Amino acid sequence: MAGGRIPQSFVLDLLSRADIVEVIGSRLELKRAGREFKALSPFSNEKSPSFFVSPTKQFYHCFSSGKSGNAIGFLMEYDRLTFVEAVEELAGRLGIEVPREGGQFERLVLDGPLDALAAAQRFFSEQLRKHQPAIDYLKKRGVSGETAKTFGMGFAPDSWDALSHFFDDPKHAIDAGLLKKKEETGRVFDVFRNRVMFPIRDARGRVIAFGGRTLADDPAKYLNSPETALFHKGRNLFGLYEAKQSRKSALPHLIVVEGYMDTVMLAQHGIREVVATLGTATTREHLTLLFKSTSKVVFCFDGDRAGHSAAWRALEQALPEVDEKRECVFMFLPDGHDPDSLVQEIGEEAFRKRVDEALSLSTFLLGELNKQTNLATLDGRAKLAGLAKPHVAKMKDSPLRSLLVDELSRITRLRREEFGVAVSSDSEAPARALSAPPLDAGSVRVLKLALQYLVERPDLADQVSELELLAESGLPGISMLVEAVEFFHENPSAHGGQLHEHWRGTPKAAALERLGPLSAALDDAAIEREFTDAINHLRHKAMQSRIDWFKAESAVRELGSAELAEWQALQALLPRRSQR
Ligand code: GTP
Ligand code: MN
Repeated sequence: MAGGRIPQSFVLDLLSRADIVEVIGSRLELKRAGREFKALSPFSNEKSPSFFVSPTKQFYHCFSSGKSGNAIGFLMEYDRLTFVEAVEELAGRLGIEVPREGGQFERLVLDGPLDALAAAQRFFSEQLRKHQPAIDYLKKRGVSGETAKTFGMGFAPDSWDALSHFFDDPKHAIDAGLLKKKEETGRVFDVFRNRVMFPIRDARGRVIAFGGRTLADDPAKYLNSPETALFHKGRNLFGLYEAKQSRKSALPHLIVVEGYMDTVMLAQHGIREVVATLGTATTREHLTLLFKSTSKVVFCFDGDRAGHSAAWRALEQALPEVDEKRECVFMFLPDGHDPDSLVQEIGEEAFRKRVDEALSLSTFLLGELNKQTNLATLDGRAKLAGLAKPHVAKMKDSPLRSLLVDELSRITRLRREEFGVAVSSDSEAPARALSAPPLDAGSVRVLKLALQYLVERPDLADQVSELELLAESGLPGISMLVEAVEFFHENPSAHGGQLHEHWRGTPKAAALERLGPLSAALDDAAIEREFTDAINHLRHKAMQSRIDWFKAESAVRELGSAELAEWQALQALLPRRSQR
């Protein structure tokens, strides 16, 4: 049923009501430092503060980790929340409910089942303490009491109504997939019986489903909760919450395994950055989820044929996701082992060594394709090229793809173009490439400064006119400044943090993060003066570039009278010595 999107207007409004200083101040100790507040970075170990919060810009900058963003971004980083969760957290602080497009407040509908799941988790762990055979089973498998506690493991008794009796009203437990109603009799019974229970948690640690392993010879060795409004196998990973909890800072990698027991056992051996798919193949949504928490995904598969074909399916999902910042690698286990048995046999260090030696995506891809072809022959090499092409086509235009194509071209002795990839991958050529001024360091710096002043003092947007001239100049990065000015024209009371929100997920947001805070030494008058200077410089550059364009055009065609007039006017405006 999943609620609709959260309206962007609500998110922007939320940011205007929230105060980043308050949000961060309730989590870190902030000290005033001129126009900003500072603190010790929560993302790295440091002795002197390099973490700054700007109340005017509603933005934070952490120099030691390079992270920065608005209040929502901070909650995502610090509380390790998804975007939606961070919005809900922020709204919750202000006592506002989060609307969804298409009406409906998702929370109201889900609170009941969530409570039922939380209660069931307490019930199951209580039962584990009372049932010796379950305790013995876990002992036999090497699971420590501490591990059982970390993962909130429990036991569902061998009974049709142990859990049913526990609930006065079965409604929410039925919605949550814990109980079922018999159609004919209307009687309610327990779904999980005689099973060791593994709670599946969402990003905030709320139990949303369970997996249960039978203690008997049930043909279904494992049983997962059915798909509910809260739980989708393809969208959740077992152990992700626990993995994120194990570390304050970002996870350098996440290992993806197949089983509950594998996850639990690796964690027990100190390898806590591990998650399991829930009896399904890896999906794109899994990858999106994983890459929110790490930049490197390590797929861990059995060394047999089934393992290789599962790895291949994972690779196909991964191709559109990877680039130089999001890496996938593949590790294969020795025959007859799963991660659980292997780590118990060889220990953490030797297991980690195998993680370090995992195959890169391109090595695995080329290796698998090579198996299907004979590279000694011309036909074989042509066949390899044919096999590789659709995979290359799925990848984003990135240095990673470029390297893969280089490698393919080396192996097959075919030109790069044969793989359907343009030689130059420079994207976003400005409309007026002809007259785009050379990327002079001076203008780039000025543009950066202008943006910095603008996000600090959005009211300065009023001073910028002739947006079209700037926009058409083709100056590198100018569209960002123009869009920022337009945004502040349209949202006169918005702050920098809201602009950042407006750009969430785009390269512009990332560029905004890289801008950094303003020098504390500047007062308001100085900012205004410097901003005016910067805009004048850019306008100057834009005029020059327009003049150059007219010059180039006039060489190849007859200019219209309006064009000629504009050209002349520009030349009159621009001091002659600065014309090229
Ligand atoms: P143990 O025998 O307890 O060590 O289990 P395992 O984790 O090694 O299980 P296995 O390799 O057999 O399966 C890996 C994962 O596939 C499990 O953790 C489950 O998520 C899933 N799975 C295995 N058997 C079943 C089943 O019968 N039904 C369902 N739905 N999923 C299963
Ligand atoms: Mn196993």
